[in-house]
Amino acid sequence: MYALKNSILLKEKYHEDVEIYILYTDMRTHFKGYEEFYGRAREHGINFIRGRVSQIVEIPKTKNLLISAEDMMLGEPIELEAELVVLSTAAIPSKGTDEVARILSVTRGADGFFMESHPKLKPLDTAVDGIFLAGACQGPKDIPYSVSQGSGAAARAATILSQPTWKIEPIIAEVIPNVCRNIKVKCGICEKKCPYGAIKAVVGQPAQVTAAMCHGCGTCVAECPADAITQMHFTDPQIFAQIKAGLDENPESKILGFLCNWCSYAGADLAGTSRFEYPPTLRAIRVMCSGRVDRDFVLEAFRQGAGMVLVAACHLPYDCHYISGNEKMKVRMEALAKMFEKLGLSPERFRIEYISAAEGVKFAGLIKEMAEQMETLGTEKIKAENEKLRPILDKMLSKKKK
Ligand code: FES
Repeated sequence: MYALKNSILLKEKYHEDVEIYILYTDMRTHFKGYEEFYGRAREHGINFIRGRVSQIVEIPKTKNLLISAEDMMLGEPIELEAELVVLSTAAIPSKGTDEVARILSVTRGADGFFMESHPKLKPLDTAVDGIFLAGACQGPKDIPYSVSQGSGAAARAATILSQPTWKIEPIIAEVIPNVCRNIKVKCGICEKKCPYGAIKAVVGQPAQVTAAMCHGCGTCVAECPADAITQMHFTDPQIFAQIKAGLDENPESKILGFLCNWCSYAGADLAGTSRFEYPPTLRAIRVMCSGRVDRDFVLEAFRQGAGMVLVAACHLPYDCHYISGNEKMKVRMEALAKMFEKLGLSPERFRIEYISAAEGVKFAGLIKEMAEQMETLGTEKIKAENEKLRPILDKMLSKKKK
């Protein structure tokens, strides 16, 4: 659009003597007033060609520039001779963006710009409470859009600053000080894994959670090798009790699913409210984030004789509502899947899937597919695999039983 504005100015300045061509790969004028710019440019005689430039070389004799391109509408190569070529350059995040992102624990997209918490529902918020976005730190923007975003961000900040106290969700992590390994050895895994920088692990002292910074994803709880962290309302005993209850009868014909609250559980909900049919073999356990799914939960499910286990999360890489819980789960669960394969578990019996809140159809389809696979495998095979696995799982979970 800036190139377009400059072209109009150039045309106005030099008048008829200037012939302007704009090569573009696509033409979108979606902001207010931009369509008028486009119209004005055309009225001024600017030619738009949908094309892809392959090279620009200087003609030695005339010192003009020769543009070689492909006219994508005609599907033909074209050549244009020009006195001046203006390239619209890409915008990149400013210097220091890395540093700010690291200090504030604000996430960034693949392009390096800061990322909003949710593109539709929270376009000004970051995943970190109290930090809001405005302007080109989020991506290239024009002035009116940046100004309106700035006003919005200021209003969002005022909602916090105008309160004498601020309530947070009670689903936070808590360290059990005398169990924490950090007292004796340098551990700090929880500190490294927390997406919000809410945990400090000083060697020789138990790790400490800053409650106001904790968002309750539960990733630290699942990652702690000593089970020294618990998540309020989603403790290990509570989830183990749900696993046991879900697999109480005919476990080998059940699919035990761990679904994250924000995407896959909502997807399952949508399947239900939309009346998409799927077999009643699923027993769903809700966790706030897939990052909370401890590998012990999966081990316990198979120990209890589950036919299949599903871990379902928000889509990678950016859909997790807790920044990167789904990525941490992926690493953890893929390692577990490899271990199961070596131990002789049929690979289709342990699934890691990514389902959004809008994918009710996908969810119903997945459960149908898993139920069919379970039927094909047969109860006898599932039972035999579980029996073979049980002593290993008993041993691996012995610490939990104490
Ligand atoms: Fe869905 Fe983290 S909230 S995977």
